This record gives sequence, C-alpha cells and structure tokens, in this order.
Amino acid sequence: MTRHFLTIADLTAAELDMLLDRADVHRSDRRIRDGLDGTTIGLIFEKPSTRTRVSFEVAVSELGGTPLVLSARDLQLGRGETVGDTARVLSRYVHGLVVRTFAQQRLDELALSGTIPVINALSDHSHPCQALADLQTIRARLGALRGVRLTYVGDGNNVAHSLLRAGGLAGMHTTIVHPEGHAPDPVVVAEAERTASRSGGSVSLTTDPVDGVKGAQVVYTDVWASMGQDDERASRVARFERYRVDADLLAAADNDAIVLHCLPAHRGEEIAAEVIDGPRSVVWDQAENRLHAQKALLELLFGAHPRHERARG
Ligand code: CP
Ligand code: NVA
Repeated sequence: MTRHFLTIADLTAAELDMLLDRADVHRSDRRIRDGLDGTTIGLIFEKPSTRTRVSFEVAVSELGGTPLVLSARDLQLGRGETVGDTARVLSRYVHGLVVRTFAQQRLDELALSGTIPVINALSDHSHPCQALADLQTIRARLGALRGVRLTYVGDGNNVAHSLLRAGGLAGMHTTIVHPEGHAPDPVVVAEAERTASRSGGSVSLTTDPVDGVKGAQVVYTDVWASMGQDDERASRVARFERYRVDADLLAAADNDAIVLHCLPAHRGEEIAAEVIDGPRSVVWDQAENRLHAQKALLELLFGAHPRHERARG
C-alpha cells in the first residue's frame, strides 16, 4: 500500500512522537544527508507559498533528492487535464508529490489515481505539515506536549483543523476560539475529541476570546481570510475584530505563554505587531521547523518504503 500524508490522521501517536524526535535531530544538524538519494519529488502548487515550497525544496535537496517544482499554471492541469490523469502520468516520472491545492478531494483523487506517495502541502481543509512544525516548536519550548493548553484564536480553518487533530494525538488540551459562524468542521472536532479521549487530551470550542485564552500556555492565530477567500477579507475584518491577538488578550493567558502564527501574518488584523514582534513570539523558530519536520516526514514516507523501491526501478 502506498503511504500518503493527506491529514494528520495518517499518523499514529507513536509515529508522530518519532517524527518529532527525528525533526529535532535534523534541527541539530543540517548536514544529515539520508534517505532520498535518487529520489525525485514533484512539488505542485495551485496557490502561492513561501515557507512550504522553499522548505520542501531545501529539505528534498539536503536529503540528497531532486525537487521538481511544477507550477499548476504551467501544467496541463491548469488547462483542464484531470487530476486523475495527471497523477497517473506523474507517477511514471517522479517518486512522490507534494501538493498545495483547493479542495481536499483533489488530494484524495491524486492519491487514489497515482501509485506514489502524496503529501498535503495545504488544502482548503487542512495543513498537516504546518501542524508538525507547530508541535515541534511547542515541544522544544515547553518540554512536552501532553497536557499542554493551546488556544487557537480565529477562523476555524485548515490550520485549526490540523492543530485539532495533532493536539488530539499528542494529548494536548486544545481550545478553538472562533467568531459565530466560523467554527471548525464538526467532523474534525468529533475526530479530535475521540483521539484526545485516548491520549488524555481534550477539545473545546468557544466564541469568547478572553475566556478561551484564560490559562493558555500557547496562543495561536492565523489569517482571518485564507487563500481563496480574498473577496471576503473586508467583511471578515469587521466581524473578527474582537478576535485579534493583542497585548490585552494575551494578558488573559498564562504569564509565560508563547505565541505561534503559521504566517503569513497581517499585523493589525489577526495579530498586533507588539505581539508577533514581541518576546513571547516564537514564529521564526516555528517557520524554521517546517524544514526539519518535513525532512522527518520525507524520511518516513520514502525511507525504506517497498513501494518506493519499486517506483525507482
Ligand atoms: N505557513 C505556510 O504554509 O506558509 P506558506 O503559505 O508561505 O507556505
Ligand atoms: N489559512 C491560511 C494558511 C496559510 C499558510 C490559508 O489557507 O491561506
């Protein structure tokens, strides 16, 4: 069976743990060159990206593989060739695909039609690679994940969904503070509740920012209008005003709370400049960890995978 990474649910709790350990090893030594020799990874981006694209390109080359960046605009995919046909053809050339797209179903279809591993580099519904780096960052700062109280403030979006799932696996207490009408997908919430009940964590939702942030050790936020929602940006800015992470809101959190943001950030909208550029912010480490966590992920999927060996032949 070809192994994919389409959501955090593709990992077990033990694998997540191992992956974070390995990501720490990569953080301590950029020169580890393992696992991807002779491996070509196609990177397809249907939306813009700074961190994900560059960190994957660097990760693949530092591990000895070849990254092949394929802008969707330049592929026949951009002119209507089906996702299925694209997957079938690319499976004959490259050993894996890292894909940023719109509907999560496009990733499912790529994975089903092709014969090579597919990694979700962000969809409208989830951003699992981001959650790996988020957990690596939190663990490095707080020493552990189990029992950590994390509050995400803002839109119940792709980043929130992956955090919920990852927090559930890792035994964290995850709270989502969202404006009315912007709650995360109830299916993801129910799934995270189930995993959290096994790992000793918990999940809660509220529309009250101060109440939700109370006692949080980690405060996390993301843009109010995600890629593809640009026409809603002005109306969201008005509706989300109460949900800005600023010094006043942060005062409700733990005294030592750290602040995360997946970036890109809009200072003065979802986060105040004084917070993102202040002493509690760990966003630059968080962005760096994308590289290390993705190296560990690539090794997990491409290491000694038998399917991969066949694809190479
Ligand atoms: N956080 C993140 O995924 O950033 P990019 O959109 O720049 O890849
Ligand atoms: N929620 C944001 C994340 C960007 C990394 C978006 O989808 O645009």
